[in-house]
Amino acid sequence: MSQDSGQVYEAVRERYGQLASGASDASCCGSGSDCCGDSAGVDVTLDSLYGSLYTADTAWLPDEVTGLSLGCGDPITLAALQPGQVVLDLGSGGGIDCFMAARQVGPAGHVIGVDMTPEMLSKAERNKAKVGLDNVEFRQGMIEALPVASDTVDVILSNCVINLSPDKPAVFREAFRVLRPGGQLAVSDMMTQGQFGEQERADLSAWAGCVTGAEDVALYAAAMRDAGFTDISIVDKARPEEELAGLPRESGPARLFSARVTARK
Ligand SMILES: C[S@@+](CC[C@H](N)C(=O)[O-])C[C@H]1O[C@@H](n2cnc3c(N)ncnc32)[C@H](O)[C@@H]1O
Repeated sequence: MSQDSGQVYEAVRERYGQLASGASDASCCGSGSDCCGDSAGVDVTLDSLYGSLYTADTAWLPDEVTGLSLGCGDPITLAALQPGQVVLDLGSGGGIDCFMAARQVGPAGHVIGVDMTPEMLSKAERNKAKVGLDNVEFRQGMIEALPVASDTVDVILSNCVINLSPDKPAVFREAFRVLRPGGQLAVSDMMTQGQFGEQERADLSAWAGCVTGAEDVALYAAAMRDAGFTDISIVDKARPEEELAGLPRESGPARLFSARVTARK
């Protein structure tokens, strides 16, 4: 990648720090216009993002949790979690997917949310106290260097986060390391067919807004394969019948979409 990774992390941390502390409107990739679409100079079609994100019941969650839902899909439904499982959420934000997962895996299960932004972690801890679930914990860390032991996780979730990483191969290597053999990946993420140009990538506001960090689906799938994942499936949420993981890389301008990604270790 052409831009400095440190600057990307700084821009991302600043954006989500502000969202967590209420200094900016909480919307990203779901229903608002703050993210994914109106970022300077980037023309994207986001038909797949409209409508309610979750088919799972969210009515039991406090407004503080649903109000800071910054995802672009529903990895919870994708994961079909079972009681007793250990679940890891990459880029857990205010905790919405962690809380839904914690309820589904029950007291015999355990959920770990990892996030790099201190304000998000504080917000997630306050939300945890409100929700009253004690089988969920939040850890500060990078998804490129997970603070999680190897071979300990049954299911990895992530919702609109991996696109933000300037080092996606490292994210998949780490995800593979911490999963138990047979473990499952269930991810919602922004992706493209075709690629953003250097100038678009240099727009850090668009990157932090879940737009120009998005990777071509063929490169995304290749990074997963290189890390060791098998049974890789990637579909556009708006056209789930068409499998995209095996397609060759596209050379045209980027078409941005919300993807459902599953794979196994
Ligand atoms: C778009 S928000 C999504 C939050 C949450 N998954 C949700 O659905 O509401 C992205 C989150 O990922 C975190 N994040 C972004 N890049 C990260 C990285 N490289 N390592 C750890 N956390 C990261 C941000 O701090 C932010 O909380």
